[in-house]
Amino acid sequence: MVDGVVRSNRIAGQEVHRAWGGVVPELASRAHQEHIVPVVDDALRQAGVRKEQLDAIAFTQGPGLVGALLVGTCFARSMAQALGKPLIAVDHLKAHVLAHFIQDIVPRAVPAFPFINLTVSGGHTQLILVRGALRMEIIGTTLDDAAGEAFDKGAKVLGLPYPGGPEVDRVATGGDPERFVLPVPAVQGLDMSFSGIKTAFAHIVRKGVAAEADFVAREQAHLCASLQQHIVDVLLRKVQKAGRAHGIPRIGISGGVSANNALRTQAAALAQREGWELFVPPLAYCTDNAAMIAMAGHFMHLAGQHAPLDTMPVARW
Ligand code: KG4
Ligand code: ZN
Repeated sequence: MVDGVVRSNRIAGQEVHRAWGGVVPELASRAHQEHIVPVVDDALRQAGVRKEQLDAIAFTQGPGLVGALLVGTCFARSMAQALGKPLIAVDHLKAHVLAHFIQDIVPRAVPAFPFINLTVSGGHTQLILVRGALRMEIIGTTLDDAAGEAFDKGAKVLGLPYPGGPEVDRVATGGDPERFVLPVPAVQGLDMSFSGIKTAFAHIVRKGVAAEADFVAREQAHLCASLQQHIVDVLLRKVQKAGRAHGIPRIGISGGVSANNALRTQAAALAQREGWELFVPPLAYCTDNAAMIAMAGHFMHLAGQHAPLDTMPVARW
């Protein structure tokens, strides 16, 4: 990456988790071990760069599963040491925010500072006041489950494969989002909650199946549309509140759930109503990707934020 322009963005999918209906930590670290050398080789080849030409080595220090983080940390440390390059320890969540600045060959508009970012992933749901590339403040967070988790668990109840978010998104097309009523969480301020929605949804499905065996098959689109709409409502209500409370007319949405079509469309409508600018990265930079870690690494490198070679992973940031 030079000045935020991506040269390659290789990702090794972990199909193994589909078979288990979720991420199995031990299998995740083993898959990391198997993939890391070929993926790095491939990324360099695709970029047309020799490893000696790199400016620095950025890696994810956390948060995440400790086994998987350990594989990446050890690899990055060894590579930095062997090549005599600076090592940069990136916070995965900051990288999701900085995904807005990733550039491809055709330039994209980037948010000016300050902006408010909704980071929505499988493990986190946060509203961040972004004052500068490396100056971020959490102004709201989920009190229980992440939005992505609510999608994934809802999908599991319906027997859809993991990860469930994209499945719910797909199946919800044409469904009636008001067919099933789910609770509106009563959380003050800019914090959020999704566990009530998840539980109520599971209850509706169980009750429906008990009354009629092919309930899920018949109602699937409506169930997915209702679940999705309730999650999107919670998220956008808080985004609206945050933008108004801080008087900031620039909103960013990133993280895996920002790939969601209903969220993208309704966020655009909200931004238009409020007269705000909206920034959502292209799909490839919404879900976990290497380019966002490089992007964060780029900003940290410019600021001289390098890490010692004995840096350890941090599972919970
Ligand atoms: O950011 P991410 O790739 O990984 C984490 O850091 O967690 O986010 C993954 C989450 C999963 O919960 C997945 O179901 C959700 O993002 N997701 C979606 C969509 N695509 C991915 N949720 C709803 N609609 C989608 N289209
Ligand atoms: Zn992520």
